[in-house]
Amino acid sequence: MPIPVLYCRDALNPRRVDEHFALEAREVRACGGAVGLIDHDALLQGDVQQAVADVPAGLGRVWYRGWMIPSGRYAALAGALNRRGTELLVTPEQYRTAHELPGWHATFADVTPASVWRPAKPGEMVTADDLAALAGSLPPGAGIVKDYVKSRKHEWEQACFIPDLADAAGLTRVVRRFVELQEDFLAGGIVLRAFESFSRLESVAAEVRVWWLDGEPRLLTPHPDSPFGRGLVPDLDHIGPAVRRLGCRFVTTDVALRSDGVWRVVEVGDGQVSDLHQSSSRAELAALLVGEANRPGTVSLTARLGGAA
Ligand SMILES: Nc1ncnc2c1ncn2[C@@H]1O[C@H](COP(=O)(O)OP(=O)(O)OP(=O)(O)O)[C@@H](O)[C@H]1O
Ligand SMILES: [Mg+2]
Repeated sequence: MPIPVLYCRDALNPRRVDEHFALEAREVRACGGAVGLIDHDALLQGDVQQAVADVPAGLGRVWYRGWMIPSGRYAALAGALNRRGTELLVTPEQYRTAHELPGWHATFADVTPASVWRPAKPGEMVTADDLAALAGSLPPGAGIVKDYVKSRKHEWEQACFIPDLADAAGLTRVVRRFVELQEDFLAGGIVLRAFESFSRLESVAAEVRVWWLDGEPRLLTPHPDSPFGRGLVPDLDHIGPAVRRLGCRFVTTDVALRSDGVWRVVEVGDGQVSDLHQSSSRAELAALLVGEANRPGTVSLTARLGGAA
């Protein structure tokens, strides 16, 4: 049976899929998958009943594909759907594990930059002493700051990059600016990561987004922010075991080539809320989700990469 997919509805046209996902949803239908609609705005505002009001009863086991959802709201969504006979294929625990850095970091420790974190509330004034203590367990050198989910990479100098983790004043300035700019969107807390030097293409980090289904790399796309339509083919041999240990059915890993030639995981994400590069095939992703790509005769990426998983 094709697996149904829940998308976010369009705010202005509630019977339609949000424009950003409309093409992908069309491909899901073309594969025989049913498409349901949730109200993402209502979910984030705390009205979970309204969020699921238009989901047909008894859809069975479904994927979600759409905008990011804070982990607590995802749990509320799962509960409300369960009461209507619909079960998200990704449990709330699995969603949090893949979506938030503290959930996946230990499993990927060998293949991703060293990281430390602490919980923080939006707008919280973290002391310089606390930050110095936190940074003290990272290797010396440069670092970056982000929250459990997102960075402010577009404000690199003022709110992301920390030239020297041992410079308490500089560290505090960048982290405080990050917290200030995140406003109410600060997710979970503050993460400090050791900086690693990744290769860049025309000044943009050359990241490849790898889409894993049931522990297999099934699709390679450029990172959604990449100006390039196609990227490099990464070596995934050392990354596959960590993905399989994580135990989440549908995840993405953004991988980048470090200057010493080793492919590193920049971050892990829940595949349901990972954005797809504009040049990438909606049909391929839809076929994976709906289950058509698992039919006999369909060549998996693993086979195409020569058993890279
Ligand atoms: N430890 C690191 N060393 C070097 N560069 C890093 C490091 N962590 C992040 N970066 C750079 O900063 C960018 C943003 O970091 P990251 O992907 O963790 O944040 P994000 O805001 O979640 O991004 P996305 O837009 O992919 O969701 C990365 O694409 C990479 O170029
Ligand atoms: Mg990223």
